[in-house]
Amino acid sequence: MAASLQNLTDLVARMTVAEKAGQLTMITGEWSVTGPKAMPLSMDAIRSGAAGSILNLWSPPAVREAQRAAVEESPLGIPLLMGFDVVHGHRTIFPVPLGEAASFEPDLWRRTAEAAAEEAASDGITLTFAPMIDVARDPRWGRICEGPGEDPVLAAAIGKAKTAGFQGTSLSDPTRIAATAKHLGAYGAVLAGRDYASADVSPREMEEVHLPAFEEAVNAGVAAVMPSFNDIAGIPSTANRDLLHGYLRQRLGFAGVIISDYNAIAELIRHGVAAGTAEAAALALRAGVDIDMMGGIYLDGLGEALARGLVAMAEIDAAVLRVLRLKARLGLFADPYRGLVSGDAAGVRHRPLAREAAGNAVVLLKNQSACLPLGRSGGTIAVVGPLADSQDDMLGSWSAAGRAEDCVTFVTGIRAAFPGRSVLNAQGSTVTTTSDDMIGAAVAAAAHADTIILCAGESRAMSGEASCRGEPDLPEAQRRLARALLETGKPVILVISSGRPVILPDWLVAGAHAILATWFLGSEAGSALGDILSGATSPSGRLPVTWPAASGQIPIYYAERRSGRPADPAQRYSSKYLDIPVEPLFPFGHGLSYTVFRVENLRVENSVVAVPGMLEVSVEAVNIGKRAGAITLLLFIQDPVASIARPVLLLKAFAKLEAAAGERIIARFSLSTDVLAFPGIDLRPRIENGRIDILVGERAVESELLRASIEITGGVSHTSRQMLIPLTQVALDVVS
Ligand code: NOJ
Repeated sequence: MAASLQNLTDLVARMTVAEKAGQLTMITGEWSVTGPKAMPLSMDAIRSGAAGSILNLWSPPAVREAQRAAVEESPLGIPLLMGFDVVHGHRTIFPVPLGEAASFEPDLWRRTAEAAAEEAASDGITLTFAPMIDVARDPRWGRICEGPGEDPVLAAAIGKAKTAGFQGTSLSDPTRIAATAKHLGAYGAVLAGRDYASADVSPREMEEVHLPAFEEAVNAGVAAVMPSFNDIAGIPSTANRDLLHGYLRQRLGFAGVIISDYNAIAELIRHGVAAGTAEAAALALRAGVDIDMMGGIYLDGLGEALARGLVAMAEIDAAVLRVLRLKARLGLFADPYRGLVSGDAAGVRHRPLAREAAGNAVVLLKNQSACLPLGRSGGTIAVVGPLADSQDDMLGSWSAAGRAEDCVTFVTGIRAAFPGRSVLNAQGSTVTTTSDDMIGAAVAAAAHADTIILCAGESRAMSGEASCRGEPDLPEAQRRLARALLETGKPVILVISSGRPVILPDWLVAGAHAILATWFLGSEAGSALGDILSGATSPSGRLPVTWPAASGQIPIYYAERRSGRPADPAQRYSSKYLDIPVEPLFPFGHGLSYTVFRVENLRVENSVVAVPGMLEVSVEAVNIGKRAGAITLLLFIQDPVASIARPVLLLKAFAKLEAAAGERIIARFSLSTDVLAFPGIDLRPRIENGRIDILVGERAVESELLRASIEITGGVSHTSRQMLIPLTQVALDVVS
């Protein structure tokens, strides 16, 4: 079927209301369960046109059969969209997104999405629910693992790179799939880090923190957007017309598809904003939601909503047209079997890329006396702990079509990396339980070794959706194991697999000789760790999220606003705690390598810049160590005086650079003065005149950064009319 816009419009005109509701309905193939079960795959629904898209069904035979039923047996022969959470890989599993974020490498983010798209497309998938670009500052929230971490600029860069990787230059390319930016909005700010709870964030925080990544993804051409489950200040995103229609469609000009989250339209009734099915359908459709994922509410309620005048036919038609246009852009009308390989599912096709991505996600948090890398020859290594030999846990939160048996565990990878050394393995504990016998066996293995590698952390099920933790720490069983291993007096290298920065006991941080954050590394986890421990690769990951020292610090992030009484250990009346430190265990940007850099000569090309204009900044980094390595430079701004209290530091750019031993590299940043804009008192973007400091270095620690100042002119003054209440009005208020 040819699919010009005119043809699609004609097609919509020929459809019954039920067929329209069908195009707006997604049912599940149930090959994977990603929500409460409802609306299972029904071939009858496909044949009758009651389903326009399918969730969680893949593989050439299954997709071929579903598409065949849709195009050959349904009344209008419209092909299906096949949606799946290809979040960090399809069959080849890459590190979880928080881990990938740690690489600070846009091109790597793009390449892993491209590889995932290629594998997913060959399995019949046409739409992924990724990238997840929710800024998250609360490690209790299980879904912090699925996203970019705490910073909006990082989130935006990831959204852009992932969209480019999934979609390529044209969706009609059968090796590419449509991407979904999710979850709009403020999902990362749910109350107390509890999934699905309310997020009562200010409009300013929305503008500054939660929306920029979505704007970037839309500018990058993302095909779809998914609203979040939560409400924002009382308005569930699925029913938020200001957000979906006002912000997304009108302000950003988004013309793609808005797809609800799983059952989220039905949940408008539970939220208490819709009395029944027809009201829920009307609220969501009128807000801008095109596809109802798994709720069945459009199927059941749109007809009644139309009859009662709650929605207009034109609104339904517009939604259907957007869905059909996405199908057309994907080339599904021309070839419903696009991309499918012949035969059954393909295997892990991107191992070298998975190994590279996993290696670059690892953050070396501590390396006392340069104990890493380990010598390739020598005595015995004991690889101990519940995560040492667990294929399944390496998959992380969204395993898509990944299989545990494809994953290289840490112990396997370490054996391969150290052929000249004897490698022993003992579990020591499960993730949450242990016994004297298990600990005894681990200590016995350690007694034969001269280095202990303790693979600790979380199971994969402890992070991700509906996996929030009130105490996001290292479980007690593992603390017992760690203590017993430290008591042997042998050097302990702590390897933490987790979907979040986990709270570590002080004695473990102090006692471990080295600490590595490995998140969940995917198919090539063990190979990547072997590369790093043996020194084949120098670690280059940097924390995309502040690592708290205590759970009482949560939420915690570097971009805090200036306080009138900033934290000062010497001042009683300052912004601090009586019982725990204010400083995190490791700041945003922290991460060591096997070499050391000196950062110097920060220069701004012009000390006065008129708006609109460019900030030209250069800085030099010298590798003063003995090995090649990478440095990630972070460029922050600081706005000393503004009309609102600004964050002390705000990331505006980053650059990862490789340098040989002794090499000096110059990084140049060209930033538009647009990056200085912020929502003023009236929430409109403004750039204010006056001093702006540029701070560059490796971590979000003000005292460690180099600083240069620029004078901004041609913007607006700090004290603008709208912030001054006219005196006469004050007088009048007092009188009345
Ligand atoms: C619910 C999750 O919130 C969303 O991220 C995901 O895409 C859907 N389930 C589909 O699995």
